[in-house]
Amino acid sequence: MDIRVYDPLRHAEGVFALWKQTLGDTYPVDRDTFLAHVLACTLGRPAGALVACDGEQPVGFALTAANGETGFLEALLVQPDSQGRGIGGDLLEQAEINLCGEGCRKVWLGRGPDRFWTGLPSDLPAAGEFFAAHGYAAQSQVCDLVIDLREKRPVLYRDRLERAGAEVVPCTRDLLPAVLAFEQREFPGWVAGLLRLAAKGEEAQILVVRKAEEIIGTIQTFAPNSRALGANLVWRETFPGPLGGYGAVGIAKTWRGSGLGIAMCEAAGIAVRAAGADFCFIDWTTIVDFYARVGARVWRTFTMASKDL
Ligand SMILES: CC(C)(COP(=O)(O)OP(=O)(O)OC[C@H]1O[C@@H](n2cnc3c(N)ncnc32)[C@H](O)[C@@H]1OP(=O)(O)O)[C@@H](O)C(=O)NCCC(=O)NCCS
Repeated sequence: MDIRVYDPLRHAEGVFALWKQTLGDTYPVDRDTFLAHVLACTLGRPAGALVACDGEQPVGFALTAANGETGFLEALLVQPDSQGRGIGGDLLEQAEINLCGEGCRKVWLGRGPDRFWTGLPSDLPAAGEFFAAHGYAAQSQVCDLVIDLREKRPVLYRDRLERAGAEVVPCTRDLLPAVLAFEQREFPGWVAGLLRLAAKGEEAQILVVRKAEEIIGTIQTFAPNSRALGANLVWRETFPGPLGGYGAVGIAKTWRGSGLGIAMCEAAGIAVRAAGADFCFIDWTTIVDFYARVGARVWRTFTMASKDL
């Protein structure tokens, strides 16, 4: 068994087959999602993914991402028949060495911009033990939520917009500079997500709460056929109907507590439904009670875990 740098031309199909064998029952992904995420993570990072090979056969895979001094381990899999032979540990060690070489000082499980998982999945207990044994410390619990949009739901919060004299509108190219300035001021960590949607020509999927010229809030939505295969669409194989989603839900500090956040979420759910989704995925949150108001339920839970390199 030897560890090689992942080569999309030689390894993509074998590694995708490995994913199906290893995680097909718990966390299935479709081929497009898998390839898009691996490519996005490894763009400009030739050693960002590693393959453990038995002859020419991939039996293990590690995928990382990096953002400055922060690294992310996005996937680590070993074929069921090959588990217990130290392959996962070897892949992890090499992945950490490579991240260190890129200048990373810390590595998180999941949670990168092109992630599969939000964190360490609670329903994979063996993975939890493995990463604890390799020095990863649990930090906090978060969850992914889902709304079943097929359930009829009364519109409860639109009047909050009317009361504030505000409206929810899709972002346009003309509105984009003001939206980006708002995001930079209020939620700088979400600017990259907005740019990613705009770069794919999908700025209309950014919904904006505004009052005349004032921007009050933004939310990034994803239609089932979105070109931006973001974190909200990763697990679409696990749902019995088209999956959409939303995230990066933000209301300006001065407007919080006026009902506009929940009204924006309600409007986003309606837009995602109109775009053809049966289910709406809300990834990475801790405010379950807030989203429960618009019908969201916990899908799965995750532990945020990290290791200093
Ligand atoms: C979370 C956020 C979008 C909520 O928007 P908001 O406009 O302040 O919230 P609203 O006024 O619409 O709240 C609607 C209702 O939900 C409740 N609520 C608000 N925040 C809540 C929270 N964190 N947890 C539980 N309930 C909450 C409110 O009390 C209100 O209840 P009411 O209808 O009985 O009065 C806003 O606080 C925000 O932008 N926070 C920073 C960014 C963030 O954390 N986004 C979420 C990431 S997952």
